[in-house]
Amino acid sequence: MPLEILSEYRRSGFEVLSFIRIFHWLCITFLSIFTLFALHGLETQGAPKDDLWAMGIFYSSAAFLAMTLVGAFCAPLVWLWRRNKYLAAQTLPPGPIGYPIVGSLFHVDPQKPFDFFQALAQEHGRICKVYMGSKLFIIVTDPGILRKLFAKTDFYLCEGESISLDTPLQQTIGNMLNDIIFGQQYPPDDPKWQRIQFLRENGVKQLKMAQASNLIPFLSLIFRGKLNEFAQGIKETHSEYQRVIDVRKKDFDSAGDYHGPKCLVGEFLKAKRNAQMKDPQSAESHSFSDKQLCYLAGDIFGAGIDTTVNTIQWCILYLCKRQLIQQELYNDIKTRCGSIITLHDKHQLVHLQAFIFEVMRMKPAVPMGVPHGTTRTVDLEGYTIPKGATIIPLQWAINGDEEFWDVPTVFDPKRFLVSPEESEKELRPNPHFIPFQVGKRRCVGEEFGLDMIFLFLANFLQRFRVQLPRDDDNYDLNCYPDFAFTLHPVPYRVELTARRD
Ligand code: HEM
Repeated sequence: MPLEILSEYRRSGFEVLSFIRIFHWLCITFLSIFTLFALHGLETQGAPKDDLWAMGIFYSSAAFLAMTLVGAFCAPLVWLWRRNKYLAAQTLPPGPIGYPIVGSLFHVDPQKPFDFFQALAQEHGRICKVYMGSKLFIIVTDPGILRKLFAKTDFYLCEGESISLDTPLQQTIGNMLNDIIFGQQYPPDDPKWQRIQFLRENGVKQLKMAQASNLIPFLSLIFRGKLNEFAQGIKETHSEYQRVIDVRKKDFDSAGDYHGPKCLVGEFLKAKRNAQMKDPQSAESHSFSDKQLCYLAGDIFGAGIDTTVNTIQWCILYLCKRQLIQQELYNDIKTRCGSIITLHDKHQLVHLQAFIFEVMRMKPAVPMGVPHGTTRTVDLEGYTIPKGATIIPLQWAINGDEEFWDVPTVFDPKRFLVSPEESEKELRPNPHFIPFQVGKRRCVGEEFGLDMIFLFLANFLQRFRVQLPRDDDNYDLNCYPDFAFTLHPVPYRVELTARRD
C-alpha cells in the first residue's frame, strides 16, 4: 500500500478519535440538561431530596454508559465510511481528508493561507488536494505541469517628512488604467472617482465573505447584509461606467465614424457597430451590450490595479531595505538615460527589470495564483480530478522551491541576468517564473502591467532617494496584513530626498 494512503488512514483514524471526543462532550452536555430536567420534574411531584440525588446519579451514569456504547458502535462505522470514501476517491492526489462540512478550513491562517498550502505541498508533493468547506481544491506547484494543464480548454477560470505612497500610487496607476479603459482620467479630488475608489476597496474587503460563502454556502445567510452591500457597490460603480460609456457614444459622427480617444470602450463600441452593420440580429451583435462592457471594464480595472500597485509597493520597500542596490540602479539610470525615462529605455535598464522580477518572485502579487475550475473530469499526471474541483497554481511554493531556484530565500536580482559579471547584461528567461500564470487564460495585462511598474520605478528612482523613516527601520518584510487575494505589505511611510547630482 503506498505510503500516502497509509498516512491518510492514520489521519482518518485521528479524525475518528476527535469524533469520539466531540461525541462525548455532546453526551455530557445532553446528560446534564436531561438530569436537571428529570430532577426538577420529580421535585415538583414531591419526591424526597436524597432519593432525587441517588436517582439522578443512577440515571446519568446509565445514560452515559448507553451513549458511550452507541458512540463506540458508531465510531468504526464512521471510520469505515470515511475509509471507503477515501478509497473511492483514491485517484485523487494525496492530501488531508479534513472534517465533514468544513474540510481543513480551520487549519488555515487567514492572514497567510498560502503558507498552509505550501506546507501541504511540501508534505504531499507537487500535486495535492485539500477540502476547504466541502469544496475540493487541487494545489499544483510545478510550472511545467501548470503549463500543460492550463493549455487545455477545460478550465475557466516630501523631503524630510515621511509620507505614505499609497494614495499617489492608486491615483497614478488608477488613471493609467482609466486612460486605456475609458479614454479619460479623473482629478484626485473628483467625488465620483473617490466614491469608486472607496467602493472598490470596500469590495475587496467584502470579497473574503463572498469567498467564505462559496466554501460553506449557509454562511451566505449570515453575511447576507454584507453581500448585498457588495452587489450594491458593483451596481453603483457600473452606473458611473455607464455615464462614461454614454460620453464615448457621443464620439461617433452621423456617418458612424469614431473620433474619441483610443480606449477599450471606444474599441468595444466600434466592434459593436461593425457587428450590427453586418447583421443586427446575430448573436455577436447582441453580445456587445453595455452591461457586458461594464463588467469587462470592471474586470480589467480590478485585475490591474491592486496587482500593479502592490508590486510597486513591494519594490519600494525592497529599495528602502537594500540601499546599495538602490544606488546601483540609480547609477545605471544616470549613465544610460535622459531626463524623462520612456519605454525606449527599457532595454538599457535590465538591472531594474531583474530587480522587479526578483521582487515579484519574493512577493508575488497573487501568491495563491488565480484558481481555475474543472468543467469536466480531467486527467492530471495520472490522477483523476472530478468536475467542479478548484485548481490552485500555488506561486508562493513555486517561487520558494529549491529545485527551481538557487537559495530561494535570498533576495538576488542577478539570478534573472544572463551574465551577472559582465557589464553588458541581458535578462535570462526562467521557465519557473510565472507571475502572470500560463496557458490560454494567462494575464492579458502582463505587458501593460510590467510597463507601468517599470516606468513608475525608473522615473521615481531618477528623481528621489527613498528610505524608511529612522523609527521604522525594523520594518518586517515578512508580515502580511489582511490577505484577501493579493499580497500587500503592512502600510508604511517613506522619506524622499530629491536627487540633485
Ligand atoms: C504585476 C501585475 C500583474 C500580475 C502579477 C497579474 C497576474 C495575473 C494572473 C496570475 C492572472 C490569472 C491568469 C490565469 O487565470 O491563468 C491574471 C489575469 C488577468 N489579469 Fe493580470 N496581473 C497583473 C496586471 C494586470 C493588469 C495591469 C491588467 C489590466 C490592464 C490585468 C488584467 C487581467 C485580466 C483581465 C485577467 C483575467 C484574464 C482571463 O481570465 O482571461 N492584469 N493576472
